[in-house]
Amino acid sequence: MSSERKLKSHDWFGKNDKMGFVHRSWLRNQGYPDDYFKGRPVIGICNTWSELTPCNGHLRDFAEVVKRGVIDAGGFPLEFPVTSLGETIMRPTTMLFRNLAAMDTEEIIRANPIDGVVLLTGCDKTTPSTLMGACSVDLPTIVVPGGPMLNGRFKGECLGSGSFNWMVKEKMLVENYTEADILEAEIGVARSAGHCMTMGTASTMACMVEALGLTLPGAAAIPAVDSRKKVMAQLSGRRIVEMVKEDMKLSKILTRQAFENSIVVNAGIGGSTNFILHLLAIAGRIGVDLKLEDFDDIGSKIPLLVNLKPSGKYLMEDFFYAGGLPVVIKELKKFLHNEAITVNGKTIGENNSLPVCYNQDVIATLDKPLQEHAGIAVLKGNLCEKGAVIKPSAATKQLMKHRGRAVVFETIEDYHVRIDNEELDIDENSVIVLKGVGPVGYPGMPEVGNVDLPEKLLRKGVRDMIRISDGRMSGTAAGTVVLHVAPESAIGGTLALVKDGDMIELDVEKRRLHLDVSEDELQKRRKEWVAPKLMATRGYVKIYIDHVQQANLGVDLDVLNSGSGSEVTRDLH
Ligand code: FES
Repeated sequence: MSSERKLKSHDWFGKNDKMGFVHRSWLRNQGYPDDYFKGRPVIGICNTWSELTPCNGHLRDFAEVVKRGVIDAGGFPLEFPVTSLGETIMRPTTMLFRNLAAMDTEEIIRANPIDGVVLLTGCDKTTPSTLMGACSVDLPTIVVPGGPMLNGRFKGECLGSGSFNWMVKEKMLVENYTEADILEAEIGVARSAGHCMTMGTASTMACMVEALGLTLPGAAAIPAVDSRKKVMAQLSGRRIVEMVKEDMKLSKILTRQAFENSIVVNAGIGGSTNFILHLLAIAGRIGVDLKLEDFDDIGSKIPLLVNLKPSGKYLMEDFFYAGGLPVVIKELKKFLHNEAITVNGKTIGENNSLPVCYNQDVIATLDKPLQEHAGIAVLKGNLCEKGAVIKPSAATKQLMKHRGRAVVFETIEDYHVRIDNEELDIDENSVIVLKGVGPVGYPGMPEVGNVDLPEKLLRKGVRDMIRISDGRMSGTAAGTVVLHVAPESAIGGTLALVKDGDMIELDVEKRRLHLDVSEDELQKRRKEWVAPKLMATRGYVKIYIDHVQQANLGVDLDVLNSGSGSEVTRDLH
């Protein structure tokens, strides 16, 4: 130990009294030798492995590799499970449970004799949930992202997981795909362990933690099945032991500068809009003042460098072979706080000074970016007083300034019933408005903002329309989709007042989203508005509805903001 600083675990294992006996004795049934209890840093390996989270199905093996590293460095590894959230399986949406998983992670870390933490993550919410929880405890923490799947393959083409889902309706309708074709695609798009291999939310989250300085350099893009991923896991196990000795807590790394770096990098990679909600929630936990407007102010002038689906052409495996995130960080260095410290004790600038790009079609240069300005645009206007977002890199240029007639769906069920009705009064200039899919209203803010277009317009060749909702969009999806409208419709935001035929104006350049209805008429509608009946009267969902904050604040529960540290003063007897 660098100084005689007492480890947290000492309070459990270092005492020669009754409770020291109890804490050690029961753990000895696992066969640990005596020296494990004599001052070795205890490293909690927080595992989001679950058979119900296929993207994290390989993390049980990874935990063993991390343990090798911890033991190499003289630590005492103890693996523990936390709530795991499988994006493609859980209903109604994993976002409803992100805060529950974060609460689980926080309490387990705090309540146990853990000196440092390794977060094993993968599928979308498993990264922010565990990191949010860890931030509220603020111990030394390192993240090992599980890594993306290998590229999908079908009919000789590269297939992006997630992104293909959004094309199934179109492929069957327009390209005459058969059921057999779809079945083959279903298999070809998930051909190895790992998370979605598009620049969807999982890959975005892996890049987020690397840009925040919470992984060893280069960790994000390594495919799950590449042996280098295991090397990274073992080295992370070694490093966390050192971090405990150096008392390198999360709060020393997660400064305002680190968050700004992450916003810059997210713009450069064309990351998911879900990034905003998760980064806001993480900042809230660690006590960094981050606002929705910061994403626009800091990120929207950053050029798009990474040519990955859903906005681009390639997939994460290609990104890795091209050099991965270190190349992007090096290329963006003039926009970054290069002196921000990272988990290996070096600055982000030092870590990323040498990488070479091996394929400039996958990772472009600043001189020849894929787009001059990427990032996220934060919209304001009477339809979204507290903000809404759009991802310009995934939108259609011609629709970025548009005035159109609202076609309103009160709920997602209403949308499903009516959208393909041939009689529906809708054309390509209409604006699809979807209500009731916000944090409170659904509840849980599902990824339905990028609703499919009506079949009759798809047959006409229409491929994009403006869609507006208080919901989210999958990071694997694209389109001119306005998301995260706050306040949401279920709590009486102006979105709740929109009616069929109202005119809506979107002007992304001016950051404006306007409902062209007079203030008198809006007041009248507001008086007549009846709040929808909320979906829960008990249990976690009731707690969630009572405490969840709106999208502009990151959708965390208000009672979970900030942290309570790592200390537990009272013993169990
Ligand atoms: Fe798990 Fe996409 S479904 S990462």
